Amino acid sequence: MAKKQDDDKLAAALKAVEEMRPGIKVGLGTGSTVSYFIEALGKEGLDVPVVCSSRDSEQKATKAGLKIMELNKAISDSNRPMLDVYVDGADEIDPLYNMIKGGGGALTREKIVAAASLEFICIVDGSKIVKQLGKFPLPIEVLEFAEVYVTNELTELGGQVVKRKGFKTDEGNIILDVTGLDFSDPLQLETELNNIPGVVENGIFSVRNADKVIVGKNGKAEYI
Ligand code: 5RP
Repeated sequence: MAKKQDDDKLAAALKAVEEMRPGIKVGLGTGSTVSYFIEALGKEGLDVPVVCSSRDSEQKATKAGLKIMELNKAISDSNRPMLDVYVDGADEIDPLYNMIKGGGGALTREKIVAAASLEFICIVDGSKIVKQLGKFPLPIEVLEFAEVYVTNELTELGGQVVKRKGFKTDEGNIILDVTGLDFSDPLQLETELNNIPGVVENGIFSVRNADKVIVGKNGKAEYI
């Protein structure tokens, strides 16, 4: 990855760490931007239990010395049934804070942990900001059993479908990366795709979009 893009991801991650407070419960996304956040959060030494959206993030959080909680346990207290904040990157984000996620293939657990959080802070470098979603191929997690059926349905919708080679999600499913879909109404498309039998989840985050966006630019971070 270009050094400049790396610097921008780091800057956004460090800014998000400033929002953390002792005792809050934090959901962790997956990917290179969140990896910077995990490392920095560990160095901060705050008492913040974390819920991880992937095995990859769990390994990184363990290495950073963070206290890991399972999602079910973290939200089982009826007086406090949500995580306080979810921090994650994105592959694309639009002006309404709708996102495409899942470049790392962790979209299903990411969406669950995001939905179980009171606030979603999205941390990105400037290349992720778009006017309209849809250039980045949309990751869709699918049961392998349904691969051909779902591919046919997506093709009917105008999609060009590429199966992600040599990849299985943490849940043991395949990912189809799809271009050519109509993103004029992301919320409607998100719902429509999830109604196809065999689709586990798709990478449009519109039902649960971001609340705050921190963008790294020229090595500095700002809220947009
Ligand atoms: C993983 C994701 C990531 O948030 C997304 O792919 C961005 O990754 P990165 O921070 O490496 O650019 O959705 O499933």
